[in-house]
Amino acid sequence: MVEFSLLNPERRMLRAMQADKRAAWTLSDLLAACDWTDQVVAVGAGHGLENRGLVTVETTVVAEVVLDASGQDAVDHGLLEARLWSWMQSEDEPTMKGLQSAFERHEAGPGVGLLKQLGVTIEQGRLVATDSIRIDSTLAARTDFLAMLPCELTDEVRPMVEAFKGRKGFIAVLERTDRSWSITEEGRSVTGEALVETTVVTDITPELLQGDAWRNAEFRAFDVTLEASTPRTGRSHPMQALIERIRAVFLEMGFSELVDDYVQTAGWNMDALFIPQDHPAREMQDTFYLDEPASLSLDDGMMSHWKAVHEHGGDTGSRGWGGTFSKDIAQRGLLRTHTTVNTIQYLAEHPTEACRMFSVDRVFRKEAIDRTHLPEFHQIEGIIMEEGANLQMLVTTLKTFYAKMGYPEVRVRPAYFPYTEPSLEIEVRWRGKWLELGGAGIFRPEVTEPLGITAPVLAWGMGLERLAMLVLGLDDIRQLYISDLEWLRNQPIL
Ligand code: PHE
Repeated sequence: MVEFSLLNPERRMLRAMQADKRAAWTLSDLLAACDWTDQVVAVGAGHGLENRGLVTVETTVVAEVVLDASGQDAVDHGLLEARLWSWMQSEDEPTMKGLQSAFERHEAGPGVGLLKQLGVTIEQGRLVATDSIRIDSTLAARTDFLAMLPCELTDEVRPMVEAFKGRKGFIAVLERTDRSWSITEEGRSVTGEALVETTVVTDITPELLQGDAWRNAEFRAFDVTLEASTPRTGRSHPMQALIERIRAVFLEMGFSELVDDYVQTAGWNMDALFIPQDHPAREMQDTFYLDEPASLSLDDGMMSHWKAVHEHGGDTGSRGWGGTFSKDIAQRGLLRTHTTVNTIQYLAEHPTEACRMFSVDRVFRKEAIDRTHLPEFHQIEGIIMEEGANLQMLVTTLKTFYAKMGYPEVRVRPAYFPYTEPSLEIEVRWRGKWLELGGAGIFRPEVTEPLGITAPVLAWGMGLERLAMLVLGLDDIRQLYISDLEWLRNQPIL
């Protein structure tokens, strides 16, 4: 009599094994006899029974030879050397020249080497074979070998495996664990109640806990040390998951999200931000200007404010940039180069209401694509406008933001942006190094006064992809946009 209680799969497995005389059971025997499809269930049940001495398990690691891509290609279209050989036999007088015109360069090159290995010699440009019978049988053996894959790695196939291993991508040797289970004397002696499958509670629900049924229920015990298949379910792309996390952090901090168009004017993207009209970043090589719409009309009064500020500082006390401000330049259509274009317009529409706004959105810059640059990327942007806001508050807010994102060590350094004073660069410590993640500052009077804003505006912005590379530990930004399913599946849940 056994004094322990078995789990349902263990009961079923033991019953199946008792009912049959066979000495050893393979995985597929068990799946068939127990009416299971999931091998994890069988392996788990076997493990449980083994622990109680009711079955024994024998594991053997089997090396299996399988076809790789080039091998599969050879099976489908013939081995290169076999195709060369049949070409040679179809020619009256096979020559190197003939071979080079009958086969493409990438085949002719390695092909000659393969023929030489088979015993073909080159005599004054002619290809000569002395022992055709041996070549035929060698080729037949190679072809037959590939055709019979997959197979176990036995001594018999080992020489062929060694030969093909030297050729890239033909075959691979994989290890597979085979198990076989045998019932013990003790296993045969288990009878009666112990083998009856019961209803087992696998999910603890509120309904269950509210009633009394749980008191007598049998609960499924989990053995977290067992091997299990990884659930492959749909999930967010890591970039999307990161965006959601950023949103959550901003919302927790009392910010509201701003979503706006990426077709904008140079006026809002640059002039409103006191970026001089001859600033290098405005050049064609940095900014995507649009043909359609080539220009968008802006409020003339607003442009006159900007003109005054740019030319001589207007009423702000600034001296401006000098020169002549062009309203045509201001009205040119472009793809926004930063999300600050949207925050500044929000402020222009609500110049006197205190606010905390953020956005996570797409921006465009004419960058050549490389390991750390993309022409289309995302910026994370935040602003706080309220009476009494100051630098201290900006730094504290940045530190809080990054701490909530999981980066407690943040430092700021002086920087320069045409639209903020003071301006800061934000650095985050990651794996012992300080990484620059973005810019921040307090908007200058040249920016705020023409819009009728009187309270200080704290602003910061940074690249989302930079942050994503950090969070996901990438060294190539392009990885984020390659839909490599294997990589995507293995990303951490953010
Ligand atoms: N707009 C800046 C950029 O594109 C970042 C920034 C935003 C800097 C707000 C200061 C204030 O890099």
